[in-house]
Amino acid sequence: MRHSKIAAKVLAELNRQINHELAAAHSYRALSVWCAEQNLKGFAGFFAKQSAEEQEHADKIIGHLIDRGAAPELAAIAAPKQSFKSLLEIARQAQAMEQTNTQGIHAAYEAAVAAKDYAAQVLLHWFINEQVEEEAWSAEMVDRVQAASCAGSLSDLDRHIERLLAREESK
Ligand SMILES: [Fe+2]
Ligand SMILES: [Fe+2]
Repeated sequence: MRHSKIAAKVLAELNRQINHELAAAHSYRALSVWCAEQNLKGFAGFFAKQSAEEQEHADKIIGHLIDRGAAPELAAIAAPKQSFKSLLEIARQAQAMEQTNTQGIHAAYEAAVAAKDYAAQVLLHWFINEQVEEEAWSAEMVDRVQAASCAGSLSDLDRHIERLLAREESK
């Protein structure tokens, strides 16, 4: 490994964030599994895609560290929450995860600003923007699940969830 010029605090934050993204991927997989078990195929597919996106996010940071001669450190990932009472609990879980993830991104960004690490700042601009979208769809999901009051409207929502939550420019 080449010598890295990344400040220790920035490196620690980026490594923490890599593992946070991987944990999010694992948690979204669990949400997908729960939905599949309930025959909510639309939600299951949506969360499976989210899981894949979170892995891509981890890969973005891993690639950044490798390009700069630093060693990414993969940590153990805890078992995700797997039992839920309702689709509303699932939607709220997704929203809470995204809100927590935004805080993690902001903490990493603050470290990059403090260290005058411009490259890490530019990397994190992408993530800051991404979190605006992630918080938007998760809030919309909570609203839409709350509004689906009967079995018919729920199965309608399941059929169209991906299209309904799509954002103009994702990824
Ligand atoms: Fe992410
Ligand atoms: Fe996310």
